[in-house]
Amino acid sequence: MKINVRAAEKADIAGIAAIEKAVFPPEEALSEETFKWCFASFPEGFAVAESAAADGGKGETAAAIVCRPTALRLITDEIYERKEISRGDTFAIMTFIVAPHLQRQGLGDKMLEASLALFREKGAKNFSLACKEHLKAFYRRHGFIEAGLSRLTLGGAVWYDMYLTL
Ligand SMILES: CC(C)(COP(=O)(O)OP(=O)(O)OC[C@H]1O[C@@H](n2cnc3c(N)ncnc32)[C@H](O)[C@@H]1OP(=O)(O)O)[C@@H](O)C(=O)NCCC(=O)NCCS
Repeated sequence: MKINVRAAEKADIAGIAAIEKAVFPPEEALSEETFKWCFASFPEGFAVAESAAADGGKGETAAAIVCRPTALRLITDEIYERKEISRGDTFAIMTFIVAPHLQRQGLGDKMLEASLALFREKGAKNFSLACKEHLKAFYRRHGFIEAGLSRLTLGGAVWYDMYLTL
């Protein structure tokens, strides 16, 4: 499938929030309000993929990555709070989502690589994320190093820290 990965615009937020709601349980999903706050605070942290429309018009939102530029090295609950934190060149990946009907077709691989390049242009030097056990291998393949059990308590799940230095 042909996709176009680009910096997000305000108009993309509803589509991003809809995918987030579809792929995460309610206790883990970020709300549209949170995405709006984040976009107002750090728009450079948003990337979306849209599928190419057959008629050349606007495609469907297929995937998104939202990062928070921070001075914190690893993901903590503060990353998810709607309040200012010290900024830096580590882009903390708050969410990475592919629309359910488009998963397991290689889009996640393409989206991650294209987004890391996009964020690098916007000043990212490092990336942090917290993921579940079953996705550690996926991120390792993209160069992330495991950094142990995360302090993140989001949704009460067990999260693992991963880190990538460019
Ligand atoms: C994780 C996610 C972004 C991956 O996107 P995707 O388009 O499905 O990924 P790809 O098709 O590029 O997958 C590439 C490889 O990654 C691994 N992978 C992807 N999703 C996986 C899953 N749910 N469990 C285990 N391995 C997975 C597989 O090795 C896969 O290759 P395969 O399909 O040949 O087995 C997507 O499944 C998603 O939105 N999941 C729900 C939200 C989520 O958990 N996000 C991650 C937050 S840390």
